[in-house]
Amino acid sequence: MSNLNPAEQSAGAPADVDPLDPHAGTAGRRRPEHPPATSATAGRTALAVEARGVRKSFGDQVVLDGIDLDVIEGTVFALLGPNGSGKTTTVRILSTLLAADAGVVRVAGHDVGREPDSVRAAIGVTGQFSAVDKLLTGRENLMMMADLAHLSRADGRRRAAELLDRFDLFEAAGKMAATYSGGMRRRLDLAMTLVGAPRIVFLDEPTTGLDPRGRHTMWQIIRGLAADGVTILLTTQYLDEADQLADRVAVLDHGALVAEGSPEQLKARVPGGHIRLQFADPQHLETAAHLLTNAGRDDETLSLQVPGDGTVATLRALLAQLDQHTIDIESLSIHTPDLDDVFFAVTGHPTTGEDDQR
Ligand SMILES: Nc1ncnc2c1ncn2[C@@H]1O[C@H](COP(=O)(O)OP(=O)(O)OP(=O)(O)O)[C@@H](O)[C@H]1O
Ligand SMILES: [Mg+2]
Repeated sequence: MSNLNPAEQSAGAPADVDPLDPHAGTAGRRRPEHPPATSATAGRTALAVEARGVRKSFGDQVVLDGIDLDVIEGTVFALLGPNGSGKTTTVRILSTLLAADAGVVRVAGHDVGREPDSVRAAIGVTGQFSAVDKLLTGRENLMMMADLAHLSRADGRRRAAELLDRFDLFEAAGKMAATYSGGMRRRLDLAMTLVGAPRIVFLDEPTTGLDPRGRHTMWQIIRGLAADGVTILLTTQYLDEADQLADRVAVLDHGALVAEGSPEQLKARVPGGHIRLQFADPQHLETAAHLLTNAGRDDETLSLQVPGDGTVATLRALLAQLDQHTIDIESLSIHTPDLDDVFFAVTGHPTTGEDDQR
């Protein structure tokens, strides 16, 4: 695993910055900060998740090739990776649902192999695929989880009501989950995970498949959990999601961690966005390429990629420049960095998720 910013580690960090403090160097982040939890014994920042050299193969396919993870208590950690990179496998191993072939994993201070029950008592898992029973109502699904968590009937009812209210599902509480929208079902799924008030929550792609509004609602819910001091490990395929939510991000590529750091450190390694100009004929492309010497040129698609952040001012200046030289463009699109750019920056190759290999 490469550190995202070795320079900062060796010399650049000011003396009063605790290298173990996840918030060090993240001043101005959007969510409230928690006092770092400390372990009574070592006096160091306590780790909610500690994984060393985790390996897993299915048959002769190596799915996790020796990964290390540290998630500090009370922080949000994002595991970023494309399809098939091993995100779900990692979550399943950390949450005792799957045994690793090698390596050591401690969650909430307990070894997942030797003390799975203690681990399970401390965690909640929202899987990539819904655990909601569609034939039950929202409230019944929650009550079922309350039974599994050994809450009394009265406590279960109270907890269910609290969660239905918090997740904006109160009105739909008596309806069968089969009638819920994707966003509602996802919220119910997470609410079910929280019935036992876990201190550590694993969320496997919490927003995949949600529309922009559903994603934002889910982000708000996750921020709320984090503000309550819950440790969160989430997986995602979206750089912006990791950026919005996480204190630390690790990038997973074919079962290996290829980068780890704060979202700021990660983004600093990714080249900025660009503006893509599409031309109707080679002549205009040619003229524009002479004018915009810093642009990347693609003769096949008759397009130019001009480095730029896509702000109105940048666009205005660019269009004015083209106008001045009477260069016509057919279309223009603005590109902000995404997972592909991260991959290219940290691995030198684009994402080659499973879908690309098929
Ligand atoms: N039980 C299993 N048996 C065989 N192969 C498996 C099993 N579980 C996972 N795999 C394989 O391991 C690889 C990683 O899968 P995993 O589900 O961890 O990826 P992922 O990062 O969660 O992908 P996605 O983004 O599609 O959810 C894939 O090639 C998958 O086919
Ligand atoms: Mg998955």
